Amino acid sequence: MHIADRVLTLPQNKFERIDDKIAKLLKSGAKDLINLGKGNPDGRTPDFILDSLHRSVEVKENQGYTAFSGKKSALEAIAKFYQKNYDVALDPETEIIAVHGAVVGLVAAVNSLIDSGQKVVVSDPYYPTYEAATHLAEGIFTPIKVASENDFLLKIDDIPTDTDLLLLNYPSNPTGAVAPKAYFSDIVEVAQKNNFTVVHDFAYSNIGFEARQCSFLQATDAKKVGVEIFSTSKVYNMAGWRFGFVVGNAEIIAAIKRYHAQYYSMIFGAVSDAAVTALLSDQSFPKQQLELYRKRLNLYQAGFNKLGVEMNVPKGALYVWQPVPKGYTSEEFADLLLEKAHVAVMPGRFFGEGGEGYIRLSLMIDDAEIVEALNRFAAKDLFRDKIIIK
Ligand SMILES: Cc1ncc(COP(=O)(O)O)c(C=O)c1O
Repeated sequence: MHIADRVLTLPQNKFERIDDKIAKLLKSGAKDLINLGKGNPDGRTPDFILDSLHRSVEVKENQGYTAFSGKKSALEAIAKFYQKNYDVALDPETEIIAVHGAVVGLVAAVNSLIDSGQKVVVSDPYYPTYEAATHLAEGIFTPIKVASENDFLLKIDDIPTDTDLLLLNYPSNPTGAVAPKAYFSDIVEVAQKNNFTVVHDFAYSNIGFEARQCSFLQATDAKKVGVEIFSTSKVYNMAGWRFGFVVGNAEIIAAIKRYHAQYYSMIFGAVSDAAVTALLSDQSFPKQQLELYRKRLNLYQAGFNKLGVEMNVPKGALYVWQPVPKGYTSEEFADLLLEKAHVAVMPGRFFGEGGEGYIRLSLMIDDAEIVEALNRFAAKDLFRDKIIIK
């Protein structure tokens, strides 16, 4: 059987490595696993969205093919949502496409914008799909390390002058960095100067613990250089529903529409209608979620205080990005927590070389499990530097 090189050389989904280790532990009889590695919202989709889906399933129009770029009702709702929440005006016909979630938006955007050999720049650590999407487009993946001293923001001066596409993500998975509007303005300026395109992944739009993350499109002239990708997965607990959208520059949106119509076809009309209900709601649900996650952040903070370890407090997104004790690699330390405390975490290295030295702990976990995990770390005194015997 011939398998395409494109697939054989795809970066391995590193998250599967954790799943394998967890499976091994469960097979050995462990019954008390706590998985802090998860990126899947633990809560239910709210009832008003579920009710909307139930009603919409019955609608005849939704049982057939829908428009390739999204139902008109969805495109109009997205425009209203951006106007109301971000004060950004969008033309539903030319500046918006609905997609099956942010991952599809990312892969479609990169493949619509990049030719073989062109340079795709990301800040490192990064969400792994960026690397896979670049690989599929035969682009040159160029991660640039970011540092805690710079609040994990990619330094403008570090962006190579021959960049073709810059992928940004604020609030950031995994670092929790958020970007002020002035930062986006600087990005727009350098993108215009050096003639590159910007794609902003806005998957954690509602989770800013100090201040609300602004939209990239709020920066003056942002629409001249790029697009933003929005996801309903985290905002409305709709990760399994697969609904998101790409908004911004009309020429880019036209290219994505052309690509998307061939590769991804269209979204189920009932899912689209339910997403419209979510977008046109009063947004009390995402606000409520932010408070729930803030409470969990405080639980982590209390746990780390008890451990006598300074927590690296995220400004946004849904993870604690914590340095590992001296002497361990991120994967060694994650293995130690799994083996000694039966607690799974994500090794930072899974998010690129720039993630080495950190682990990622999720806020999408039941309160009691967070407390229990930190109690186990304390009981076994696991957050200690490795003793190296010479
Ligand atoms: C930064 C980032 N982008 C995109 C996604 C995927 O979003 P979606 O479920 O809309 O495909 C995630 C999911 O965890 C993410 O962390």
